[in-house]
Amino acid sequence: MQQIEHRYGDGIADPFRSVRCRGGRQRDSDAVRRTPRARLPVASRGAMRPAMATGELRFERQHLLGIEGLEAGEIEYLLDLADGFVELNRQSEKKLQLLRGRTLVNLFFEPSTRTQTSFELAGKRLGADVVNMAVARSSVVKGETLIDTAMTLNAMHPDLLVVRHHESGAVALLARHVRCAVVNAGDGAHEHPTQALLDALTIRRRKGRIAGLTVAICGDILHSRVARSNILLLRTMGARVRVVAPPTLLPAAVESLGVEAVTDMRRGLEDADIVMMLRLQSERMQGSLVPSVREYFHFFGLTHDKLRAARPDAMIMHPGPMNRGVEIDGPVADDINRSAILDQVEMGVAVRMAVLDALTRRLRANR
Ligand code: CP
Repeated sequence: MQQIEHRYGDGIADPFRSVRCRGGRQRDSDAVRRTPRARLPVASRGAMRPAMATGELRFERQHLLGIEGLEAGEIEYLLDLADGFVELNRQSEKKLQLLRGRTLVNLFFEPSTRTQTSFELAGKRLGADVVNMAVARSSVVKGETLIDTAMTLNAMHPDLLVVRHHESGAVALLARHVRCAVVNAGDGAHEHPTQALLDALTIRRRKGRIAGLTVAICGDILHSRVARSNILLLRTMGARVRVVAPPTLLPAAVESLGVEAVTDMRRGLEDADIVMMLRLQSERMQGSLVPSVREYFHFFGLTHDKLRAARPDAMIMHPGPMNRGVEIDGPVADDINRSAILDQVEMGVAVRMAVLDALTRRLRANR
């Protein structure tokens, strides 16, 4: 068995550290920074941001392991950079040479459609050589440890390692054993930072701001790294966040992250500007946390009827993969006036290009 250390920030206990729902053992509070910052109106954002044009260094970190610890300015910098890549990706000629000569390895220990494909596209559009390591056909299945895998890859001199792992803390552990930049593409129930960044970009482009919006994050909060990264990012950028779920799917002490916890769906959606639905993660559940899928959909599935409680222009989001008829009704997911689900996918490529660009700027400056 591999030993995975669980260490968050300054060693502060975290409601998502282990999946224990409300009513279970209480843990210490997490510290949440509240640094609201007004957004520029959409119209004032150019296709190519100055940060992109000048190459100035404003994201000084070696890795992107989580949203925790990021300053509002760093998040804005990545979003601004990504804005420019959105425009590039809509052109017929999408290729740049920013990462020419650089090697990106995708190392996914869990299935993925959106994240892996978009990191691959992002790397290729920036001119990198991209390798998708097939974990199922690698020496991992012969018992090689995570650290040995990391050190083996390290010896091949990659510049960027994008890692998804089923254990919280595994990506941070791996980052301590390699020389290259590491990006967390989702670790257990801990964090999925690029998902939160792409969600923020989607919100900012549609609503023109993040600060002051009310965001309802609904569903399986307990097992969701997407929820945790979004809570951290949205609170840092000045949004109000409500988490909406049955008590069995809310982490204990979730309010310590600066959110309101609500167990009634209609009440949770009241006056929401953004309704972010989450997948019911049956694969992470130990024991039965919902009576049945049918009952879950009845009380917590997003339908047009329940959506009436939100603001008339409320935007619907879902990180995918979606379970239609479980957490979201098909017609709601496909509602072209309300649903931003495919926009999120589009923003995912741009955000990942921004992250790869930002993390390699120092390398390129020292070339
Ligand atoms: N949202 C998300 O992480 O999707 P994938 O699992 O398909 O990468």
